[in-house]
Amino acid sequence: MQSFKIQPKIELADSLAEFCQEFQVGPGDLLFASRRTQQNYLQGLAQGAIIIDYRDFGSGEPTDTMVEGIAHALAGRDYKRVIAIGGGTILDVAKLFALQTILPVAKLFQQEIPPVKKCELILLPTTCGTGSEMTNISILSLTSLSTKLGLAHDALYADHAVLIPELLKDLPDRAFGASAIDALIHAMESFTSPRATAFTKMFSLQAMELIIKGFQDIVVQGRKARDKHLQDFLLASSYAGIAFGNAGCAAVHALSYPLGAAKHVPHGEANAVMLLPVYKLYQEKHYGGSLRDLCQYLAGLLGCQEMDVWLRLEDLLTGILSWKSLADYGVTKDELDAFADVVMNKQRRLMANNFVTLTRHDVEKIYGSLY
Ligand SMILES: [Fe+2]
Repeated sequence: MQSFKIQPKIELADSLAEFCQEFQVGPGDLLFASRRTQQNYLQGLAQGAIIIDYRDFGSGEPTDTMVEGIAHALAGRDYKRVIAIGGGTILDVAKLFALQTILPVAKLFQQEIPPVKKCELILLPTTCGTGSEMTNISILSLTSLSTKLGLAHDALYADHAVLIPELLKDLPDRAFGASAIDALIHAMESFTSPRATAFTKMFSLQAMELIIKGFQDIVVQGRKARDKHLQDFLLASSYAGIAFGNAGCAAVHALSYPLGAAKHVPHGEANAVMLLPVYKLYQEKHYGGSLRDLCQYLAGLLGCQEMDVWLRLEDLLTGILSWKSLADYGVTKDELDAFADVVMNKQRRLMANNFVTLTRHDVEKIYGSLY
């Protein structure tokens, strides 16, 4: 039996001021927002709310220790709603604070503590990548396990996902490129997942079209095209979030997590590194079914033959974001073995969604080709 779920109520707003007024943001709210968001958009708004910048609790990607630091800082403070304005990492952290019990975080993520929702959760994305506002997944780096781990549970769904294109305007170029490529990968991995359905595929395809057309315009016209397509990228990211929230992500994400955790490579960039080798290997092992459908669809968007899809996609993506070899990220050959261990042992949830089964030898082959 197949199922498909969209949980949050989706709201579209023109500005953060409009949202704050409509939702009467203030006392009783726990608000997650970076300093930059606070300065650029929140001045004079949200008075009386408890405001947290997760950067006060550590640098780099969010970890269990960072979440525990925030939880200790909030001890004894009461709130009735959690509102998060930020990239996927801030949204993923904020989701946990709408739960009754989150400590110790490693136990929560290893499903030794059942997640139970305690208050309303409202998520506002400021990047066009993770689609976190639509999913029931929170992803953290767990320091004790040396990898990122996802916790998927319906208690982590937002009650409202609020989409405001204005919030994407001052996203730096690399953050924009990495997050939009991440969204494209969500759309692709969910499309070729064995859990894909007619419903998820519709969202995946529309996300791919919006992102690729936007990228094509940006490569030709530069920044002004990006501003023109902001709403498209925000919608695409949410569409892809709906698709992968139901059908799952797969090997691209699984292989990128050890790189992201060990070398602090941003999530979208680490995914970009893995994307083409994973799909080329799928194709080598079995060219048919949803992979063939994907290649035909991408060929139409990219204006090329099916056989040239990966080459043309690489050309397009490198016009948006540059990435490096594993050696240039500082990975040693010895670490590749540990990376493969993590993928095969800790990322089974994702590896179960691969288009075809990938063995440890396949994973080692991909890492080896990227060194
Ligand atoms: Fe992702």
